[in-house]
Amino acid sequence: MMEAGTTTTTIAPAGVRCDRTAAWAQLQAHAASCAPQFSAFDTRSAFVSDPQRFAHFSLQAPHVFADLSKNRIDRTADALLLQLAEQCSVQAQRDAMFAGAAINGSENRAVMHFLLRKTAASHEAPAQAAIKDIAPEWTLAWAQTLETRRAMLAFAECIRADTRITDIVNIGIGGSDLGPQMVVQALQAFAHRGKRFHFVSNVDGAALAGALVGLRPESTLFLIASKTFTTSETMANAHSARHWFEAAGGVDIAAHFVALTTNEAAAHAFGIATTFGFNDWVGGRYSLWSAIGLPIAIAIGAAHFTDFLAGAEAIDQHFCEAPLASNLPVRLGLLDVWNRNFLGFSSRSIAPYSQALARWPAFLQQLEMESNGKQVDKNGDALSFDTAPVIWGEAGTNGQHAYFQMLHQGTTVTPVEFVAIKQPAIGGLPQADADHHHRLLLANVVAQAQALMQGRSDAGGHKNFSGNRPSSFLLLEALTPASLGALIALHEHRVFVSGAVWGINSFDQWGVELGKVLAQDVAKRLDEGNTDWLDASTAGLLARLG
Ligand code: F6P
Repeated sequence: MMEAGTTTTTIAPAGVRCDRTAAWAQLQAHAASCAPQFSAFDTRSAFVSDPQRFAHFSLQAPHVFADLSKNRIDRTADALLLQLAEQCSVQAQRDAMFAGAAINGSENRAVMHFLLRKTAASHEAPAQAAIKDIAPEWTLAWAQTLETRRAMLAFAECIRADTRITDIVNIGIGGSDLGPQMVVQALQAFAHRGKRFHFVSNVDGAALAGALVGLRPESTLFLIASKTFTTSETMANAHSARHWFEAAGGVDIAAHFVALTTNEAAAHAFGIATTFGFNDWVGGRYSLWSAIGLPIAIAIGAAHFTDFLAGAEAIDQHFCEAPLASNLPVRLGLLDVWNRNFLGFSSRSIAPYSQALARWPAFLQQLEMESNGKQVDKNGDALSFDTAPVIWGEAGTNGQHAYFQMLHQGTTVTPVEFVAIKQPAIGGLPQADADHHHRLLLANVVAQAQALMQGRSDAGGHKNFSGNRPSSFLLLEALTPASLGALIALHEHRVFVSGAVWGINSFDQWGVELGKVLAQDVAKRLDEGNTDWLDASTAGLLARLG
């Protein structure tokens, strides 16, 4: 965090690329010292030889406790990883982001989603807060952000109070869908009982058609969520929603369509009068704190939305101020680097033991894979090491009865990340039943982490579990707007840390462009039946589809 009076840097610090640091070479040597890729390291023995292992490898951050001790890591690796962070200037890169430097170099933009969650105390005294936390040239942007937040939350309260509106249909994709959808589902216990929420993302017409079943134009509010307002899937769904609205007798488009976008001109051209904007320094997958969060605000209301922002802001402070060794996003990001680059694990399975967090794996998939799935460094030079792992998973206990077989006994070792919530979800079942279900849920999540590590060797053959399988365990006291905000911000910063070590730009996504361009060409070819100059496979498929 910038100190009072610090001048802003607008040039992102270069940082030394990880594979050129001394710590990287030392980590390689250390990993190799314990059989290839540390495979001879036995976590069970590590607990015996180090009675303080749990204490050393567990951390408390605002709202989130993390036990990392069941991972295949020792104190030497941990210390070297902290040196790696220092040598890669992770702190300077972090400070550059918080100072508003153009760290998204390939798009020449700052990255300032954290600004969206600065909360009430600073809201009331923007001048002082600006001096303390925000570079002078960003105070105007921040004032605009506060004004948009105020207008958006006031609008959300109006919709909540309007009994004529029963159904909210959010049309958006990627970051304009996954975050709001995940949060609205996660915070159902706090949601307005009189509103139903529908999220339409896929261009497959079945998605929109399915969402519209039983809806009436006069009681439906469409939120067209698109940072660019050009994404073809969202535009196709928005146009079809308007056709449905008109065909079903809807009369007041202005009252039933709202746009959440940085491209307010395009939204107006579409015929939408009510728009809530944000800035290009908010990446799509980091945008749920902005106007893109309107469905969340309608669901949980302005006060809870403010708590949600406050939880995230608490993590921002922790990330900026905690020493590296007790900084949870830093420790998680460094563990990710260790697992990926020194232990060779190519995926991470995400297991939230919470039905409310069922969409958490899908949200994290975009956050991490779109941010860090890169093959070149910030200068565009090819990397000699791996970056983002595959992120995948399901809510527990369901995953246990699907793919956990492979996690326990498969030939590929996959780190698992459990998320558990101490308190049961509020409401819905008689208290005794709710408590019983929750005890079973918690017993299962703890038992799975234990089984992965302990294994079982007394039975042999098909019944043998080798154990020593790594996992992390994140624990929230309760699933509330504040704790969920913290959990999300924690992961945003964790992804930042591994990206900063790797020296990549975590904030662009050029890898999605080629498919978009070719889809336009293929659509034209499908219309025209034209397969000229195509490879034989693509031509063959088009001939079958034509
Ligand atoms: O295609 C990828 C992407 O650009 C994501 O980064 C983004 O979240 C999504 O598409 C949706 O973009 P938009 O909000 O501009 O419609």
